[in-house]
Amino acid sequence: MRTIDRIYIDGAFVTPHGSEEFALFNPATEERIGTVRLGDAKDVALAVAAAKRVFPAMARTTKAERIAMLLRLRDAVQARTDDLAAAMREEYGAPAYFTGFSVRNTASIFEVMAASVENYAFERMAGSSAVTMLPLGVVGAITPWNSNFGFIATKLAHAIGSGSTIVIKPAEQSAIQTQVLLECLHAAGLPKGVLNVVNGTGPEVGAALTTHPDVALVSFTGSTPAARIIQRAAIDTMKRTVLELGGKSPTIILDDADLDTAIPVALMSGFANSGQACVAGSRILVPRARREDILARLKQEAENLKVGPAGDPDVRIGPLANAAHWERVQSWIRIGLEEGATLLTGGEGRPEGLDKGWFARPTIFADVTNTMRIAREEIFGPVLSVIPYDDDEDAVAIANDSDFGLQAYVLSADGERALRVARQLVAGRVVINGAPHDPHAPFGGFRQSGLGREIGAYGLDAYLEPRAILKPAA
Ligand code: NAI
Ligand code: MG
Repeated sequence: MRTIDRIYIDGAFVTPHGSEEFALFNPATEERIGTVRLGDAKDVALAVAAAKRVFPAMARTTKAERIAMLLRLRDAVQARTDDLAAAMREEYGAPAYFTGFSVRNTASIFEVMAASVENYAFERMAGSSAVTMLPLGVVGAITPWNSNFGFIATKLAHAIGSGSTIVIKPAEQSAIQTQVLLECLHAAGLPKGVLNVVNGTGPEVGAALTTHPDVALVSFTGSTPAARIIQRAAIDTMKRTVLELGGKSPTIILDDADLDTAIPVALMSGFANSGQACVAGSRILVPRARREDILARLKQEAENLKVGPAGDPDVRIGPLANAAHWERVQSWIRIGLEEGATLLTGGEGRPEGLDKGWFARPTIFADVTNTMRIAREEIFGPVLSVIPYDDDEDAVAIANDSDFGLQAYVLSADGERALRVARQLVAGRVVINGAPHDPHAPFGGFRQSGLGREIGAYGLDAYLEPRAILKPAA
């Protein structure tokens, strides 16, 4: 049993003022594995005060100083790769392939930001005026449980890159992962107060952060409903917001696609992170003329994907993160059936052979129309919808007919044709033919998928604001 009873304020692990406790579980076994003591609004006030005190010094740091901090953070994460992976395996249950990616990616986020700072023009000219891109002040960040390390690292990297200071409220159910990551970040020896982390719930600690008058920018990753509350709370003091939210991303299989390569890509885009990914390709758009063939292949290959606990390296799909989320995903499967979609594979309950753990059956619905709720709302589990289309134009229209616009996938034997389709899609990122993750590409969404972008110059722009100095000609 782990007891997490400290939060991180002003460069030190301290006992929070808040005293409420929250239980932590292993989602593959449903066993209680620990307890976290939650902070409260008083802890947020102390953390924001610490971040505010050091902000003027942080804002004056040079590019070289920021880059040095970022590279120390990268090294500190790399030094404890195995401990980070172990925490993620136990508390989140992700398959080995995803845990490995997550830990490498966490280190890479700091390195990519170091390169972005190097290349960013903080000093510019506009007409005859000198423009300086200035940090906003204290950043309040709120992160979810589906990629705890990556989201904490992203928010911190942007704060340091821009010369800001930060108070982070991670997802309370990820406290063991947060603790190990924090030990790494602490070892990097940032100036006191630059990084502060307060465990707690959204309505208590999250709300205290989003209403605090000394927080200048709120950076949030999570659900669209929580983002609405956060944005309303931020209005009174005119906080800037960067919001990375949900999606209902389309995977368009064009009629010339080679199914040997397209089907595995479509399935892994949909079931990535056990379906708990904002970028999941959860709507698979298939040409009507090849429907039968594609459905047969999807069914066969989905049923070959191994579901189970993280210890087995062949596992592709792990458990859902918590009991409430398992129930929510089950109810989505019932909604799909009630709406008249055809169950191609999967369904309610646990996969065969797994009698404990929050495992859901990898589920694919066929005969889905784009007006059904399972095609319009984010499910955040291994539940995919197959929607038939007539021609490329129809595919683009269906893909774009969504409240979201985070990511899209195009699969074709012809790269030029895939590109023509990609250029018509309203999405923050369009991935052609299973292209690998690009850590330098801007990340964020159109419409209700969010506001602003993270990563690179696009991410720095959101954390900075221009000051122009106008003076008479000499
Ligand atoms: P959530 O959006 O409620 O939680 C994300 C973070 O926001 C957590 O740290 C939470 O404590 C905080 N939060 C919640 N309410 C808040 C409030 N009023 N003020 C400030 N902070 C608040 O997500 P939840 O409830 O864990 O998951 C529900 C659904 O949200 C999922 O089924 C999925 O559809 C979506 N989701 C999307 C994510 C993404 O990466 N886009 C990540 C997590 C959830
Ligand atoms: Mg919630």
